[in-house]
Amino acid sequence: ANAFDHALESLRNGEPVLVHDAADREGETDLIYHADAVTPDAVARLRNDAGGLVCVALGYEIAEVFDLPFYSDAVDHPATSDHELGYDDRSSFSLTVNHRDTYTGITDEDRSTTIRSLGEVAADPDGADFAAEFRVPGHVHLLKGAPDLLAQREGHTELGLALADVADLAPAVVVCEMLDDQTGEALSPADARAYAERHDFAYLEGREILERLG
Ligand code: 5RP
Ligand code: CA
Ligand code: ZN
Ligand code: ZN
Repeated sequence: ANAFDHALESLRNGEPVLVHDAADREGETDLIYHADAVTPDAVARLRNDAGGLVCVALGYEIAEVFDLPFYSDAVDHPATSDHELGYDDRSSFSLTVNHRDTYTGITDEDRSTTIRSLGEVAADPDGADFAAEFRVPGHVHLLKGAPDLLAQREGHTELGLALADVADLAPAVVVCEMLDDQTGEALSPADARAYAERHDFAYLEGREILERLG
């Protein structure tokens, strides 16, 4: 199968995919799973093999149903007034959450409980009571997709949600940047591709996703 079909198949099967956004954007490769497939082992892979910030991207409509704002709109602090990202107009950060069944919230077991539950409520937003199920703040960062997804923003938030959408999955994906353990910088695309090949994971460039779905 081509890398695109491999990626959709992987998300459906609970396997990760790698997505490099663009050299002229963050220049980062995120390891991405569909949220409802995330096990403690998957969280261990995210923190050991990716090493960045573990975040769950939710589709805009679902985030609205759950009353989840963009962080910068929700917090009235002078430091939120001008975000000054070098690579995009705005960040996609929303609130941070823990599932109420977690203890500290940070263990592999706890984060997988939170992430998997986010996948479940995203599949049935009208049947969920978000505040009864999750507490804020927590140890999983939520990201909120742009309303018109790739037409408005080309971040990993939207790239991951667009893949879930074409895979016919609920709009909830976990993303984490791959960092280089030697240099501390973003893992290079060549090294990210080699990691994908070693594990038989799909690797996609943001451009390939935009050409298909943008
Ligand atoms: C949060 C981030 C990541 O880059 C993540 O991929 C979401 O951001 P974006 O949608 O801007 O790519 O910074 O850890
Ligand atoms: Ca590592
Ligand atoms: Zn990113
Ligand atoms: Zn990033």
